[in-house]
Amino acid sequence: MSEGTTLKGKNIVVTGAAQGIGLGIVEELLAHDANVVMLDQDAETLSVSADRLNAEADGTILSFVTDVTDSKDLRKAFESASSRLGSLDGLVNNAGIIRMGAALESTEEDWLSQMNVNVVGVVNCCNLFREHADGCGSIVNIASNAGKVGYPNMAGYNASKAAVINLTRTLAAEWAPGINVNAICPGGVLTPMLEHVADVIGTRINENPDELIQTMVPAQLNRHIQPREVGKVVAFLLSDAAIIVRGQSINVDGGDTPY
Ligand SMILES: NC(=O)c1ccc[n+]([C@@H]2O[C@H](COP(=O)([O-])OP(=O)(O)OC[C@H]3O[C@@H](n4cnc5c(N)ncnc54)[C@H](O)[C@@H]3O)[C@@H](O)[C@H]2O)c1
Repeated sequence: MSEGTTLKGKNIVVTGAAQGIGLGIVEELLAHDANVVMLDQDAETLSVSADRLNAEADGTILSFVTDVTDSKDLRKAFESASSRLGSLDGLVNNAGIIRMGAALESTEEDWLSQMNVNVVGVVNCCNLFREHADGCGSIVNIASNAGKVGYPNMAGYNASKAAVINLTRTLAAEWAPGINVNAICPGGVLTPMLEHVADVIGTRINENPDELIQTMVPAQLNRHIQPREVGKVVAFLLSDAAIIVRGQSINVDGGDTPY
């Protein structure tokens, strides 16, 4: 690995790290010799994943059960991580939720919960990262191609991810040059969230979710994207080599979204 792309010894926080894309990102960062702080609200899944990685990987792994919308608890996790590892170098805002349903049928609670986790949770973590980052570092926000495309039956989710894309541009401008902020926009990544989406749509259109999910693949790839493949793009954006890429929202969806 060339000098500019190494993450060796960097202290990187990943939210929503217990499963899916977050876990794939953690695995990739550990393979790049980073020290990783795993945050997730799901205590049981987090403990299983962290125990497995601790047994398999050489790097330092810390894990904290915390909800990204609980700013007090989140502060404790960031303080504990930085007191044990030193100042933080990277943050991956990956925790997210989706509430499927037609726009007119979505409740206020649907809207608020998605905006709270997917947007306010990102803001909370960005602010805490900045406090513990010693003036420099990199943030990667996991938005979605849904933030660029208006997919039906997920208006609240689409809007929350569009907000993340704009927040990324704003923070990149406000926090330059020390902290570099980018986003990626995945699509078609095989995770429990995609399985949930297939279940909800399958039930509505009376199609078998297991068959439906096989069709939910990026057209140019003709297969699902694996979480660890997303992790490779994140690892690059966290590295010094990405210093000239700033405030961007890069599609990681196998070519589905051409803008
Ligand atoms: N799977 C895809 O195809 C896809 C596409 C585009 C964007 N994304 C985005 O990627 C991210 C990860 O998605 P995924 O598919 O791995 O989802 P997932 O549901 O499989 O995993 C999400 C993880 O986030 C955690 N989480 C949820 N709310 C949290 C909170 N309030 N505080 C802390 N942790 C919380 C969950 O416990 C879970 O471990 C999300 O932001 C999602 O919107 C996914």
